[in-house]
Amino acid sequence: MPNTVIVGAQWGDEGKGKVIDIYAQKADIVVRYQGGNNAGHTVVIGRDSFVLHLIPSGILHKGKICVIGNGVVVDPKALLEEIATLESKGIKIGARLFVSRDAHVIFPYHRKLDELREAKKKNIGTTKKGIGPCYADKVARLGIRFVDLLNKKVFKDKLNENLDEKNPVFSKIYNTEGYSFDKLYEEYSGYAERIKKYIHDTTVFLNEAVGRRERVLFEGAQGTLLDVDHGTYPFVTSSNSTSGGASTGSGVGPNRIDKVIGVVKAYTTRVGEGPFPTEFSDDLMERVRTKGKEFGATTGRPRRCGWFDSVIVKHSVMVNGIDEIVVTKLDVLDDLESLKICTAYKYGGRIYKDFPSDIEVLSNCEPLYEELPGWKSDTTGITAYSRLPKNAKNYLKRVQKLLSTKIVLISVGSDRKQTFSSE
Ligand code: GDP
Ligand code: IMO
Ligand code: MG
Repeated sequence: MPNTVIVGAQWGDEGKGKVIDIYAQKADIVVRYQGGNNAGHTVVIGRDSFVLHLIPSGILHKGKICVIGNGVVVDPKALLEEIATLESKGIKIGARLFVSRDAHVIFPYHRKLDELREAKKKNIGTTKKGIGPCYADKVARLGIRFVDLLNKKVFKDKLNENLDEKNPVFSKIYNTEGYSFDKLYEEYSGYAERIKKYIHDTTVFLNEAVGRRERVLFEGAQGTLLDVDHGTYPFVTSSNSTSGGASTGSGVGPNRIDKVIGVVKAYTTRVGEGPFPTEFSDDLMERVRTKGKEFGATTGRPRRCGWFDSVIVKHSVMVNGIDEIVVTKLDVLDDLESLKICTAYKYGGRIYKDFPSDIEVLSNCEPLYEELPGWKSDTTGITAYSRLPKNAKNYLKRVQKLLSTKIVLISVGSDRKQTFSSE
């Protein structure tokens, strides 16, 4: 398997966890390169279901090495809890987990700022995990990395510098208590002690592995439309969830990455606030949400659901350089009489075939649809493309044509086995 990036092509929750789990069989190393525990990647193996937040989904395969790259923001408490949960389910982690010394650390003040900002001006609908405030500190050059946490003097200085700035914000702007240096220093020194054994120079590790021709799989989190540069800004997350992030977030040069695979849900979902042109407005919302079990894997919030939107996915194909597509959750559409695919937006007398980044256009546009007949039959037991009902094949063919990109794999259920190639 060539070095491959797997990205979400919509607003997240496309089924990346399941797809990574499948491709991980042929990889040696799986790397998370951005985001943090805002992600929730589900892998179902028989009767067992695992939700991974920080640890790459490859960890479920014996012997695979998993790397949390420099571009990830890590809440050490959440990481230790995730390790404990996996171990309690019989997954041996041992020396298979590598965490970048350069990954930035999430502190309680990041989580609190995230919560307070959401409460004050409830407009993004974040996961409240402290992701945005932690990335903001990174860019403001105030952030604390694992390498800093492991150096007592540097950690003390940096924590003091941060609290000097943050505590007045809590007291003066939010009228709430700040954080005591001693308590945080003690708590985080404890985490550092427990996490120390996982901390490495993952950039050198990965580049040496690439040099030995080991196969690396890059696991994207969130989705393209949540990317801070290419998404529905400001209703996005605070990192580059697109394929370019795989390089900056791991230290592996772009010319060492061979392939980009986009994971595309057969319809569209979004969790949190922000424009969603093809969102259902009628009873279809309930029907699809229930059948697709569309509730957040991290926060449990109901996901908003809508028709397949080829305008946003075409944008994803372009900004990620997607070579191949995996379509998931086709089975969720099994009962529908007819299906719509959005091919353009209309706003102010203009037709938009390319993704408009103007939030006014995105929020108020009229989606223009093509309608296709449904297949009205159960696809969950299908194991070969040739067995799909004719109308399901026609739906996939139309999607493929609109995206000018090959669909290579189709998923019709959450289990590993409910997947088949398009050949
Ligand atoms: P991720 O964040 O992209 O990894 O996706 P999530 O795990 O948050 O959400 C995808 C959900 O859909 C999970 O509950 C998966 O088990 C489930 N899932 C994945 N593929 C399929 C599929 O083809 N059909 C159905 N019905 N469920 C699927
Ligand atoms: P996976 O990897 C879906 C959304 C949040 C919110 C916005 C910003 O499971 O696909 P944040 O906490 O990141 O600052 O929130 O991004 N969001 C996700 N939506 N799937 C995710 O991850 C998400 N991670 C963040 O709901 O709208
Ligand atoms: Mg998810």
